[in-house]
Amino acid sequence: MDFAGEHVISVDQFDVVKVERLFAVADGMLPYARRQRVTRVLEGAICGILFFEPSTRSRLSFGAAFHRLGGQIVETTGFAFSSMAKGESIYDTSRVVSGYVDAMVVRHPEAGAVGEFAAATRVPVINGGDGPGEHPTQALVDFYTLCRELGKRPGSLGGATVAVVGDLKYGRTAHSLTKLLALEHQIRFVCIAPPELQLPEPLVAALRERGHRVEQTEELADGLRNADVVYATRIQQERLPAGLTLDGVQDRFAIDAALYDRVCRPGTVLMHPLPRDSRNNPSELSNDLNRHPALAIFRQTDYGIPVRMALFALVLGVADQVDATARDASWYRPERFGVDDTKPMLP
Ligand code: NCD
Repeated sequence: MDFAGEHVISVDQFDVVKVERLFAVADGMLPYARRQRVTRVLEGAICGILFFEPSTRSRLSFGAAFHRLGGQIVETTGFAFSSMAKGESIYDTSRVVSGYVDAMVVRHPEAGAVGEFAAATRVPVINGGDGPGEHPTQALVDFYTLCRELGKRPGSLGGATVAVVGDLKYGRTAHSLTKLLALEHQIRFVCIAPPELQLPEPLVAALRERGHRVEQTEELADGLRNADVVYATRIQQERLPAGLTLDGVQDRFAIDAALYDRVCRPGTVLMHPLPRDSRNNPSELSNDLNRHPALAIFRQTDYGIPVRMALFALVLGVADQVDATARDASWYRPERFGVDDTKPMLP
């Protein structure tokens, strides 16, 4: 199973076998992501990172992952500084960049736009988020995190209860993750959101058709009970239609340590694609959870490196050569990344 030359546009491209191959390669990337080893397998390769929407972790983790494989990146951010501001089409931009790079990662505000980039080039294109559409690599990182947190392999999560909270309508990470988890057997999805922000109906229908249970509720405390995993998301203020005001919604769906301890089963894993919206207090997952061992959000961001390294290695066809160029790393690295981390890095 290899995906050399493939674009990564949607989670629909993945089945359990493909996910397993990706995760096995990602496991092999852990020593590099932990800075114990260095590989130069992509030395000489260049990745184009074209982000036309705000981003911190996706853009930087794609770049860091490519660098950690020994490659280099060229990038452009925002329309204002690209020729798209002069009216250049997606077709032309994609074809032009193809001549400069060996792989491309694109984030764009319109659903389907990254697929248009891919249609214009034979260089592998990875979707870094297309508006309210999909965010396949985030879902793969989320799934990888979830498997490691629960100590399970892909395909063995059957019967799990996954509570998805927040903006399930405009949040592309919730779309991609629920679609990817649909590969499992009989997941119970508890969708906790106000009616205006519930999971799109076609997605709910598709999950049910595949034999999953989908429950929809506005009651946060009730919805969290019995969850194995809670996936909190931010209200996508920038994507809400004009006139839709959702005052107080974020507070109503915010989870803090007291609520967790009161209603969640011990060990319920708390996830979030991030960013937490800290302009509101509390955010979707309150800061008083920062030292809570159940809070997996930073382990989740850390796993963005091995999973994205694995994707690059697979689409560029070097997954089996990574260790051949490796050596030990010698620079200082802490045992844990963050001051509040409860586990060593990348457990
Ligand atoms: C998410 C996104 O951009 O869709 N962030 C991310 O890539 N981790 C989630 C969000 O913006 O709310």
